[in-house]
Amino acid sequence: ITTTIKGTIPTWINGSFLRNGPGKFEFGEDRYTHWFDGMAMMHRFHICEGNVTYSSRFLRSDSYVLNSERNRIVVSEFGTLAMPDPCKNIFARFFSRFTIPKATDNAGVNFVKYKGDYYVSTETNYMRRVDPQSLETKEKVDWSQYVAVNAATAHPHYDRDGATYNMGNSYGTSGFFYNIIRVPPPEENAAKEDSEDLNGAQVICSIQASESRKPSYFHSFVMSENYIVFVEQPIKLDLLKFMLYRIAGKSFHKVMTWDPTYETIFHLVNRHTGKSEVKYCAAPMFTLHQINAFEDSGFLVMDMCCGDDGEVIADYTLENLRRDTGEEMDKVNAFRLLQQKYFSYNSVSVCIIVQTKTNPGEVYMTHEELHDDELLQYGGLEFPQINYDQYNGRPYRYFYACGFGHVFGDSLLKMDVHTKELKVWRYPGFFPSEPVFVASPRATEEDDGVVLSVIITPREEKSTFLLVLDAKTFTELGRAEVPVNIPYGTHGVFNGMEQNST
Ligand SMILES: [Fe+2]
Repeated sequence: ITTTIKGTIPTWINGSFLRNGPGKFEFGEDRYTHWFDGMAMMHRFHICEGNVTYSSRFLRSDSYVLNSERNRIVVSEFGTLAMPDPCKNIFARFFSRFTIPKATDNAGVNFVKYKGDYYVSTETNYMRRVDPQSLETKEKVDWSQYVAVNAATAHPHYDRDGATYNMGNSYGTSGFFYNIIRVPPPEENAAKEDSEDLNGAQVICSIQASESRKPSYFHSFVMSENYIVFVEQPIKLDLLKFMLYRIAGKSFHKVMTWDPTYETIFHLVNRHTGKSEVKYCAAPMFTLHQINAFEDSGFLVMDMCCGDDGEVIADYTLENLRRDTGEEMDKVNAFRLLQQKYFSYNSVSVCIIVQTKTNPGEVYMTHEELHDDELLQYGGLEFPQINYDQYNGRPYRYFYACGFGHVFGDSLLKMDVHTKELKVWRYPGFFPSEPVFVASPRATEEDDGVVLSVIITPREEKSTFLLVLDAKTFTELGRAEVPVNIPYGTHGVFNGMEQNST
């Protein structure tokens, strides 16, 4: 679809802004109940010489294909349990409840890169390779065919040599482990086949869960020049319940519980040696997205979005979200309660963990809030992004995020972590997606470039736009209006490697 440009899109931006997210919640009479469950929809804003075109496609995952063929929900997702086939007789139905459901390949969380190829990913053992230009669905890739993991996150890290790092779980008779995986850079001069390739992937470190039957949920991790920091948080997975959850008729998110009787444990792993020797403990906290980590004068500094109430993850049910768009105004009080919980989540939005060894084996940890009270009027922040290519793992000054004054982001924020100064883009009725930074070609400063965000406008029919902000001033340079409704998505990347394509 062609778009209508207002203002100016800088002509140096060449490439595609790729975004992923849930896009379909109904099959026949069946409805998904949790926002994370919607069928993956891929979006591409192709930017070239000041013009923008938009395209989208549903991921043809097995889940999507099966659900479409049967016109009902066949595959269980995170918050929605697929019911047994109603055509089976009562005995078959009874036994079908004893089978452990297959993991979903509905990879609706992020676009990620391994060995030069694009994949869409979620938090199971499956990813899907995709064509970043046509958005065509390619092979299903099973992590467990390459390394001994049962799942991997949707937030890998990339080092400057081209290797990709991720984390995944494994469990067996010796316990539950959090594994750090390294996928090597693409081989130089090797003839590149058009197929999946995770060959050479290795587990470089296995961290044993502090309690085997109750491992922690994790969504991402951080990587500095020499370390990987993994946060073992008090959001616990009950493995016994996980095995039994179909019998109990519970969906997956109900086997995750926030248990603040546990401490938060920070595992530091030297990513060159794979060694993790010390556990650093802190008060219970909940985190989905970390921002950056870097080493400075013998300290490791880690910035992250976190909060003290991990109950929020259950709140992204579609029932709650529909309340938020005003469909059920009579339930506004219930929504306010929900919103208060978000404020408590965001009250310690960002912290720095500073560690100092006082005695051998003993570590004192503290944190600093990176914001002042000004942030509270924007409801705290999530979806943090930085100038990743140049500053990930290194001392940095700026990050970009969505302010969450609403259940969904309703502002864009730029934070200066040196001065705690905030710059804000916010207009009523506009809901921005995760802001992604793109550096200008001859950038000399960290914030020399633009920030891209997709803005949905649910109060208006068929009007969504790609917003281009000057990253330095955080003011609008231009927008590309698309005459369609686009669902609120999750994460995305800018693919600047396709200058000559259309
Ligand atoms: Fe995420």
